[in-house]
Amino acid sequence: MEIIIKNDYDEICSEAYQIVFQEWQRKNNIVLGLATGRTPLGVYAKLINSYKKGEINFSEARAFSLDEYLGLKEDHPQSFAYYMNKNLYRHIDLKKENIHGLQGLPEDIDEHCRQYEALIKSVGGIDVQILGIGSNGHIGFNEPSSSLASRTRAKTLTKETIEANRGYFRDGEEMPCYSLTMGIGTIMEAKTILVLAFGKNKEDAVVNSVEGPITAAVPASVLQLHPDVKIIIDEDAASRLTRKDYYRWVYNNKKGITQIRSVNKPPVL
Ligand code: GLP
Repeated sequence: MEIIIKNDYDEICSEAYQIVFQEWQRKNNIVLGLATGRTPLGVYAKLINSYKKGEINFSEARAFSLDEYLGLKEDHPQSFAYYMNKNLYRHIDLKKENIHGLQGLPEDIDEHCRQYEALIKSVGGIDVQILGIGSNGHIGFNEPSSSLASRTRAKTLTKETIEANRGYFRDGEEMPCYSLTMGIGTIMEAKTILVLAFGKNKEDAVVNSVEGPITAAVPASVLQLHPDVKIIIDEDAASRLTRKDYYRWVYNNKKGITQIRSVNKPPVL
C-alpha cells in the first residue's frame, strides 16, 4: 500500500488525476472503474478540464461503474448512471458503447451481474479503479461482513450508509435500501486501485483499513493484499494513522529508487 497524504482536497484530486493521465499515456484504451459519491468529483472535473484543453481524450477508453442503487431508473437524478453522465461522461468523448454500468432495474439480477463480470474480463480487466470509502470502511456498496472474495451482486445497504446518502434525495423521498455492486473480489482484480478520502468522518475508516487487521468487518482492509493500491487522503482523514511520518518519508523519497536503477549508485536521502 502506498499512503499519500496531501494538504487538501484539490491536491488529492491532482494526484489521482496524474496517475490516471500517466496510465492513459501508456495505454490509450485504458479501462477505468469509477466510483460515485462526493469524493471523486474533483478528479472527474480535472479529467474534463484536461480533455477540454486537448491533453487527454477518451476515444479508445472504457469505463465501468462500481455500483448502482437497485430500484432506480437510469434517468433518476440519484441513480449512479445519472451521476456519471452528469459529472463526467457527457463532457468527454467516451463512446456510448464503451460506457458500462450496472442497471437499477435489471430483468434478471443474477444474470445481469454475471454478464457485467464477463464484460470486465472480456476487455482485459480494469486498469485503474477509483474508489471512495464509506465511513464504515465499505468500498462500492460492499458493506461490512461482505465476503472478501465476493463478485458483482445485490447487497442490502446498512442503515448507516442509507443515512449517509439520504442528503442526496428529496425530503420524504424513499431511499433505496438495495444496491448492485462490484464485489470485493472483482475490485481486487483491478490492476491499480486508488482510494480517495478526505475529512474527519473518514479517519476511522482510513486507519482501520490501512493499519488494522484484514477483516470483512472493514471491507477496505482487504486492499492490504493488493499489489498496487494508493490511498490518497488529506490530513483530516489521515489523523489517526500512527505511521504518518513514515508514509511521508517514503513518498518524498520515492525518486531515490529510480535513481539507483538508472545510475546504479545509492541515493543521498
Ligand atoms: C457510497 C458509494 C461508494 C462511495 C462511498 C463514499 O455509498 N457506494 O462508492 O465511495 O459511499 O461516498 P462519499 O464519497 O460521498 O463519501
